[in-house]
Amino acid sequence: MTDSRASEILDRLRALREGDAPTHGGRVLSYVYDSGRDELDELADAAARLARPLNGLDPTVFPSIAAMERDLIGFTRRMLHGGRSVVGTITSGGTESCLLAVKTARDLWRQAHPEGGRPRLLTATSVHAAFQKAAHLFDLDWDAVPCDVDGSVRAEDLIARMDDDVALVVVSAPAYPSGALEPIAAVAAAAEARGISCHVDSCFGGFVLPWWPGLPTWDFRVRGVTSISADLHKFGYAPKGVSVLLHGGPHARRRQRAQFFATTRWAGYPVVNPTLLGSRSASPLAAAWAITQHLGEQGYAELVGSIRRVALSLRETVDGIPGLSVMGDPVGPAIALVADAAAVPAEQVDPHRLADALTAYGWKIQHQPGVLQSDGVRIPHSAHLTLTPVLEQGLAEFTQALRAASDSVRGKPQADARMLLAGMRALGYGENGRVPGPKAAWRLLRLAGAGKVSADQPMAQLMALIEKLPHPVSEALLSELLARMSDPR
Ligand SMILES: Cc1ncc(COP(=O)(O)O)c(C=O)c1O
Repeated sequence: MTDSRASEILDRLRALREGDAPTHGGRVLSYVYDSGRDELDELADAAARLARPLNGLDPTVFPSIAAMERDLIGFTRRMLHGGRSVVGTITSGGTESCLLAVKTARDLWRQAHPEGGRPRLLTATSVHAAFQKAAHLFDLDWDAVPCDVDGSVRAEDLIARMDDDVALVVVSAPAYPSGALEPIAAVAAAAEARGISCHVDSCFGGFVLPWWPGLPTWDFRVRGVTSISADLHKFGYAPKGVSVLLHGGPHARRRQRAQFFATTRWAGYPVVNPTLLGSRSASPLAAAWAITQHLGEQGYAELVGSIRRVALSLRETVDGIPGLSVMGDPVGPAIALVADAAAVPAEQVDPHRLADALTAYGWKIQHQPGVLQSDGVRIPHSAHLTLTPVLEQGLAEFTQALRAASDSVRGKPQADARMLLAGMRALGYGENGRVPGPKAAWRLLRLAGAGKVSADQPMAQLMALIEKLPHPVSEALLSELLARMSDPR
């Protein structure tokens, strides 16, 4: 290929990327994790490039992969106070780590229950959606224990639901929607007493909480914790595609082996897959390896220092904004903003209108629809903020924008989806359980003004609709939206 052809192709990609939300600088407070240190990105790029031709499918052919994995697993194990008996696997991300934790526990449950039956996955409502997906894929019943309106769950509510059919109980450190650190010690102790596996999902906080002061013990020091997930592609600052799943407790090795899939029953090469994938890129692994080598524990501690200063300062700022409050008592790098329930409606700041208004100031926070739980308690709609170290540099500007945007929407209620809902009902979708197929879903989306998506599109209306529609309908609409985005024109 000629140089000019290559540069023309790359120019086209650059042009496409211009439509994306900014990945650096902390202006997007979700999805991306910017340390604010350019040298880390450069190091990650160089390491990823070196490892790019490798295939993680077979570390016996490419032993550098096993060497990097050993270092990364060792680093994560030390950080989470796992002893030498703790073993682990590098996966492609948080979802894969969570899926594997559930599949492993399910397989062990089946071994222990030869009489059969259907296992249950016990979590709080606040658990990451990856666990619903795991229950769906691996055939478990998802038992979601309701949280309080502030997004926190009580240990006794989880413990009360523990029984012989529970294959795994999951607690989050912290939960993504609210930043709540769940009651890990009490839940793990109760699980251990009943012979139930207990997973701590620290995909989000795993590379932050080890250096966060004043927390109750939540890692492998807690008896009864049998596995922990921690994502290197979040606060490990690696590019997307890398997470760690560790197994601990008395039978850690046996657990981890239950996670593996091996077969010699086909005509091709002998297969051993520790994770869900076959061929695997080694680039994210190499990037994560290089970053952890470079930062070490001290480097992570310093970056957590920045996150903590941002978190403390933002909580103070929100306290000073009439009508807005922080949901619950978050720890670590997440906070969720809600309308202050103690304020009169004319004073309240709706978090989704705030999120939309902030885009005009160049900041993007994440809309989270409210959710009605099985006990009738609704966790209110909120706006999530992932707090990254780089935000410390722009904190004054963000604070100003938060105040100004709040002022601009104060007193405006949550977006009203009633007209749209009525329209959907008139078309036969709503309360009767009828789920639209692809064509109808697309028509409904266009009716809702959501047929086109851009990085700075207002979302409050769509979120209000999602919150009010029956789940199967809103899920069909969202699937349609995403599918259409990738349809070739
Ligand atoms: C607590 C928690 N668990 C699991 C996940 C899933 O991670 P991923 O998006 O890497 O698949 C996330 C993602 O935000 C998370 O916050």
